[in-house]
Amino acid sequence: SKITLSVIKADVGGFVGHGSVHPDMLKNAEEILEQQGKELLVDFFVTNVGDDINLILTHKEGINSEKVHKLAWNTFLSCTEVAKSLKMYGAGQDLLSDAFSGNIKGMGPGIAEMEFEERPSEPVIIFMADKTEPGAWNLPLYKIFADPFNTIGLVIDPKMHSGFCFEVLDLVEDKKVTFSCPEELYDLLIFLGASNRYVVKSVYTKNKEIAAVSSTQKMNQMAGRYVGKDDPVLIVRCQSGLPAVGEVLEPFANPHLVTGWMRGSHYGPLIPVSQKQAVPTRFDGPPRAIAMGFQLANGRLIGPQDLFADVAFDRARQKALKAADYIRQMGPFEPHRLPLDEMEYTTMPQVMEKLKNRFK
Ligand code: 13P
Ligand code: 13P
Ligand code: MG
Ligand code: MG
Ligand code: MG
Repeated sequence: SKITLSVIKADVGGFVGHGSVHPDMLKNAEEILEQQGKELLVDFFVTNVGDDINLILTHKEGINSEKVHKLAWNTFLSCTEVAKSLKMYGAGQDLLSDAFSGNIKGMGPGIAEMEFEERPSEPVIIFMADKTEPGAWNLPLYKIFADPFNTIGLVIDPKMHSGFCFEVLDLVEDKKVTFSCPEELYDLLIFLGASNRYVVKSVYTKNKEIAAVSSTQKMNQMAGRYVGKDDPVLIVRCQSGLPAVGEVLEPFANPHLVTGWMRGSHYGPLIPVSQKQAVPTRFDGPPRAIAMGFQLANGRLIGPQDLFADVAFDRARQKALKAADYIRQMGPFEPHRLPLDEMEYTTMPQVMEKLKNRFK
């Protein structure tokens, strides 16, 4: 029988500012899932990256399950109450609707889920990032599933040699397109390179087996602003015809620049860190990613193994910090600061209004 792996995340209050999640909130999430998920869930694991709570859930309900989404929603609501009692920063930040209406999509929380037949051994990696956006996974996903200089399995593993299919979402027009690679690699890259608009939703083998799913969703207009593309998660299955664990982690050894740092309005390097180090404080960042590895055993989450805790990622961290120092020098100038239409905050309309008679 098939198992479903759902990762549902939300920022329902930061400790301190936007840096982390208070331990009482995480404990509360575990208690709610333990009590209310008894019948529904096979297993669960709760963690955080920065100020985002991540619920990692296994169950038999399939994707888009109303019951599972409602449980996650109720968990976040309850954690919001804890956040309010402690006056955490931005309590309830990502809960954009007053009432649950059947599906958590578009209500604020991010969601990545996949249903599959559990293999004799089923290693999975859950990537979770803070101070960035779903487009942050484009470059690593390209390297993992399409770049033979990263993933030697594409060259030497007979089960991977035919390549993978990338399902890409246009966030603006809310349309999907699938590219079959390596045949359509160059077509794929013209879109993936524009990671603010085109983001990888999922990756499949040529036999239509699910390999990776991200929390990418269309940008929803809620509360008068675009939302639903914040601090993303990504699930990747590994080994046996899929990339090896080390091939999946390798792109993060060379930190790339992503959007989302300070007020969601700056570029910064995505630093791979251990869960303990996932407390972004410098200029509210820099953006960071954690990678939790699990072996599934009949749906049980055996783990996690904190994969970026490896000393072999120390040099990546150093390199990212150098890049952070470099780009920070630019202060309010692009390309550190995002282009006008991509900033989460701007004073431009008010300043324009004030100065309108002085523009000749
Ligand atoms: P082991 O020989 O340690 O099983 O490693 C297999 C491998 O090649 C991993 O990339
Ligand atoms: P979050 O999206 O993690 O809440 O961060 C907000 C921010 O931009 C902090 O500077
Ligand atoms: Mg926050
Ligand atoms: Mg966050
Ligand atoms: Mg954010």
